[in-house]
Amino acid sequence: MSETLKVNLGERSYPIYFGTGQGERLREDIASLQNEGRKIAAVTDANIENLLGDFIKHLGHNLRLLVMPPGEKTKSFERLQEICEFLAREGIDRKGCLFAIGGGVVGDLTGFAAASFLRGIEFRQIPTTLLAMVDSSVGGKTGVNLAAGKNLAGAFHQPKAVYIDTSLLETLPPREFAAGMAEVIKTALLADPGFFDRLQSLGKLTPSSPQLPGIIRRCCEIKAAIVAEDERENAPEGGRALLNLGHTFAHAIEAVTGYGNYLHGEAVAVGLVMATRLSQKLGHLSESDVAKVTETVGAYGLPVRLNNPLPASGLCDAMKRDKKTRAGVVHFVILSRLGKAETVNDVPESLWRELWIEAGAENR
Ligand SMILES: NC(=O)c1ccc[n+]([C@@H]2O[C@H](COP(=O)([O-])OP(=O)(O)OC[C@H]3O[C@@H](n4cnc5c(N)ncnc54)[C@H](O)[C@@H]3O)[C@@H](O)[C@H]2O)c1
Repeated sequence: MSETLKVNLGERSYPIYFGTGQGERLREDIASLQNEGRKIAAVTDANIENLLGDFIKHLGHNLRLLVMPPGEKTKSFERLQEICEFLAREGIDRKGCLFAIGGGVVGDLTGFAAASFLRGIEFRQIPTTLLAMVDSSVGGKTGVNLAAGKNLAGAFHQPKAVYIDTSLLETLPPREFAAGMAEVIKTALLADPGFFDRLQSLGKLTPSSPQLPGIIRRCCEIKAAIVAEDERENAPEGGRALLNLGHTFAHAIEAVTGYGNYLHGEAVAVGLVMATRLSQKLGHLSESDVAKVTETVGAYGLPVRLNNPLPASGLCDAMKRDKKTRAGVVHFVILSRLGKAETVNDVPESLWRELWIEAGAENR
């Protein structure tokens, strides 16, 4: 099976290729780039090199590969510099092309390197985690973390193509697969009631579930449509910001715990339940809606509340530093129903604090 979805962004439009056997397409694309005299480099992480080494090796000759340590801490300025130095050493010029072979960490970091090196070279995404397939490889947000917060430095830089091959998920640890499902559930919750119902009725999916390719594609369709409407998240309300459902809470958890304790998708899982609870407190959802979301998230063994007692004040402060804060006002994405999201900016701090304490934070 091989099919294509176009991300419509005028001259920055690009294809997302789906289907097993992307290795073949990649070999052809890389060979044809090289035939044009273009140099090709790629970045991956050590786990992927270890587990998917054969896949990478068969992508082509003369592929200059840089291997990063795995994990969220790699999304840093030090690693960004390392990639840029590597590209310079390898003689990559403006016509060069950089491939990101990995999850969201490799994708975000490599994309930022491609945006920065020589003020911008082409890059392409080969996502290898579920999270990257359904979310981070599409849409052109690239960046690194700062001690002050997640993704606080970065650039919009769209890939030239995205190659999604679900067979690469066979080696993905179950915990990482579950973390990706948090973004799948997020996507359904914010945009498509029928999709959320379907996720509930399907029960627990695995990398070999026959429904998975269709689910990944649906997530990409939703994300591509939102990004096409509001590429740089400028819409005064709604728009691309809706993709941050649960993320104001999630980024605070990640910042306070120092990017190591929770996987990004796990923090998103807690954030989704909190955003649903917030929507219920604001009068949009029922208790049974909250229960449905909690159950769907929990079915994957994802956390639905904090698993260690973090201080509520620190979490609230981290929310104020989040980059979605505009003119000092924290913006939230809430659900007007399951499958439809909206942005709000008038949630009192006392209510965020209450939500954190209900989610297991310490009242200090
Ligand atoms: N740019 C965006 O729009 C966007 C959207 C969502 C999330 N993100 C970012 O994505 C990041 C999280 O991405 P992630 O969850 O993919 O994390 P990740 O890149 O750290 O990958 C998770 C782990 O899985 C391993 N791995 C990757 N592919 C594998 C495979 N096929 N088999 C076995 N192991 C494999 C990696 O080595 C790593 O240890 C966060 O930094 C988040 O901020 C970005």
